[in-house]
Amino acid sequence: MRGSPEAVIAAIDEYGRTTKFLMNIGSHKGDIVTEVITTCRPEIVVEIGGYVGYSAILFGNVVRRVGGKRYISIEENPSFAAVSTKLIELAGLDDIVTVVVGPSDTMLRHLYETKAVRTIDLLFLDHLKPLYTRDLRHCENFGMIRPGTTLVADDVIQPGNPQYLAYVRATPLEKKARMKSGILNGEEIGGDPTLIYESRMIHTFHMSGVPVGWY
Ligand SMILES: C[S@@+](CC[C@H](N)C(=O)[O-])C[C@H]1O[C@@H](n2cnc3c(N)ncnc32)[C@H](O)[C@@H]1O
Repeated sequence: MRGSPEAVIAAIDEYGRTTKFLMNIGSHKGDIVTEVITTCRPEIVVEIGGYVGYSAILFGNVVRRVGGKRYISIEENPSFAAVSTKLIELAGLDDIVTVVVGPSDTMLRHLYETKAVRTIDLLFLDHLKPLYTRDLRHCENFGMIRPGTTLVADDVIQPGNPQYLAYVRATPLEKKARMKSGILNGEEIGGDPTLIYESRMIHTFHMSGVPVGWY
């Protein structure tokens, strides 16, 4: 049986509203990321933190619409990944969206070593907040981040991610100094401190649609 991406998204939203809270990106933030994808027109998207497939279906559909080639969704929890794989199939997006099961650092290395991903046009970070910087630095090491790569990071305002914001906003000199002094921990991770990111903060609503600050 096949449904449309829109019908599957509507069904997940309905389930989340009526049966069990789901930590999906939701429609409000979803619209913002959709706009980013429509503007950037990425060929290759990597998402870290796939959960049950909501964002992979919502954004994978947009990537297909703008002529993109692949949407790779990394998820470490095999049960979530199994649900996600089924829903992606149901949404008719299994030709473009691939679920990769395992912890992000191992899976990024796997994508690099198997040459499945050489460069990333858009990286969507939506997993464990303290791992955003580490995993971005892994992607930098693997040469996956190139001029023009767009990073989309969820929840950097609430609950917040000062370490990630400090990293992407630092100058190459600041990054090198922090790496040397150990302030930016995990020297073995490395990264490419010469990369300069332009950063833009988008204030928005929480995933349930409740404005930030109401919790
Ligand atoms: C907020 S949910 C992702 C929601 C999803 N992007 C969406 O909007 O539908 C975070 C997910 O990240 C996964 N996760 C956490 N740490 C991870 C890691 N190191 N590697 C891969 N997945 C991870 C969790 O299992 C969880 O499913």
